[in-house]
Amino acid sequence: MSNLSNKNIVLGVSGSIAAYKSAELIRRLQDSGASVKVVMTKSSVEFITPLTMQALSGNPVHTELLDEASERAMSHIELARWADILIIAPASANLIAKLSHGRADDLLTAVCLATSADILIAPAMNNQMWLNRATQKNISELKLMGHHVLAPEDGKQACGETGPGRMVETNQIISIANTLFSSGSLSGTKVLLTAGPTREPLDPIRYLSNYSSGKMGFALAEAARSAGAEVTLVTGPVSLLTPKYVVRHDIETAQDMLKACVEHASSCDIFICCAAVADYRPRRREPQKIKKNDATLNMEMMRNPDILSNITAQFEQIFSVGFAAETTNLIENAQQKLLKKKLDLIVANDVSDPEIGFDSDHNEVLLLWANGNEKLEQASKAIISKQIINRLALIYHENRS
Ligand SMILES: Cc1cc2nc3c(=O)[nH]c(=O)nc-3n(C[C@H](O)[C@H](O)[C@H](O)COP(=O)(O)O)c2cc1C
Repeated sequence: MSNLSNKNIVLGVSGSIAAYKSAELIRRLQDSGASVKVVMTKSSVEFITPLTMQALSGNPVHTELLDEASERAMSHIELARWADILIIAPASANLIAKLSHGRADDLLTAVCLATSADILIAPAMNNQMWLNRATQKNISELKLMGHHVLAPEDGKQACGETGPGRMVETNQIISIANTLFSSGSLSGTKVLLTAGPTREPLDPIRYLSNYSSGKMGFALAEAARSAGAEVTLVTGPVSLLTPKYVVRHDIETAQDMLKACVEHASSCDIFICCAAVADYRPRRREPQKIKKNDATLNMEMMRNPDILSNITAQFEQIFSVGFAAETTNLIENAQQKLLKKKLDLIVANDVSDPEIGFDSDHNEVLLLWANGNEKLEQASKAIISKQIINRLALIYHENRS
C-alpha cells in the first residue's frame, strides 16, 4: 500500500508553463489513495483553469486569501492544518523568491507559512531564470528552512532553449512524497548509528580531523526513527541538533567511538556506520603545546581501530551497513569493502563533488548489497536517508525471514 494512502495533500500551483502537469499530478496522487485540495496563485489561473483542477480533484479550488466562504474566513489556516504534506508543482521563480523571504501576500504563501507539514517544491522555469544567482540563493534558503526541493531536469524547454529548468516528472514527485511519510518498516528494531568526524589530539589544543558535518548520519538517525526504530546515535563533534527521540552519545576520538559502539551493539539489530572515522592518530599526544621551534615537524601516526570490522566481528548477528566515501573508483572500492567487511549493505558516495560532498545538504549515492544495487538520484540528505532506510528495511526483513 502507498504511504500516501489516506493522506491529505495541498497542491500549490503557480504561474509556470508547466502548470498543465499539475492536472496529471492530481490524478496520480488520487491513484495513491490521497485526497487533494488545490491552491492556485493568481498568475497560475492564466495557465490552467481552476475548473479543470476542481473537476479533477473533486474539491473546490482555492485562490483567494480573503475567503468569505470559509467558515472563519481563514482558509489559509484551515488548509495549513488539513495538509499532511504540501506539494508545490510547478513552483515559479517568483513564488520561490517569496517563500524564501517568508512573504504571505497571497493564499499559497500564507498556507506555506502557517503549516507544520513538510513542503515539497518542484521548480519549473527557463534555464537562465533557474541559474540566476537570485534564484539559486533563494533555493539555498528554502533548503536551509528544511523544505524539500526537487532540482529541475535538464532538457529542451517550452521557450525553445535547452538547459536546467524542466519540472521533474510526476512519478518522481509521487515517489519522493511517498518517502516523506513513515512506513513503520523498522518498527520493533534497535538501530545503532555513528555520525560526524572524529578528533585525534596532537597536544592539549590541537587535533587531526576531517570535514564531515554529521548531516548525513543525523538525517539517517531521523529517518530510522521515523520508520519506527529505537535509535542510538554515537557522534563525533558536530553542531547539529539531536533528532527527536534519538538517544545521543558524544565522543571525540575513534577509540572512544569504538568503545561506545561496543557498549551498545549487543542490544542492537542494525548497525549503521556513517561516521568519518580518522584512519590514523598521532602515536603520542604531547602533554604540552607543541612549539614552532623547527622548520619541519615529524609526527609518528598509528592505525586507529576499524570500527565497522570490529563490530561485525564481535556481533555476528548484527545487520551491518557501511559507507564508502570515495574520491576515485567509487564502485570498485565500495564493492571490495562490502565483501571484505562482510556487510549487508554499503552506501557509496563520491565526496570529491562539492555539490554532494561532506558539508553539502544534498547527496547522491549508490546502494550495493549481495544481490542488487540501486542508484539514488541527487536529493536532500533527508530524502536520501529515507530512501536508504526503505531499502535497508527491505533487505533486513528479507535476510531475517
Ligand atoms: C507564457 C509565460 C510563461 C511563463 N512561464 C514561467 C515558468 O515556467 N516559470 C516561472 O518561474 N515563471 C514563468 N513565467 C513568469 C511568471 O508567470 C510570473 O513571474 C508570475 O508573476 C508568477 O506568479 P506566481 O508566482 O504568483 O504564480 C511565465 C510567464 C509567461 C507570460
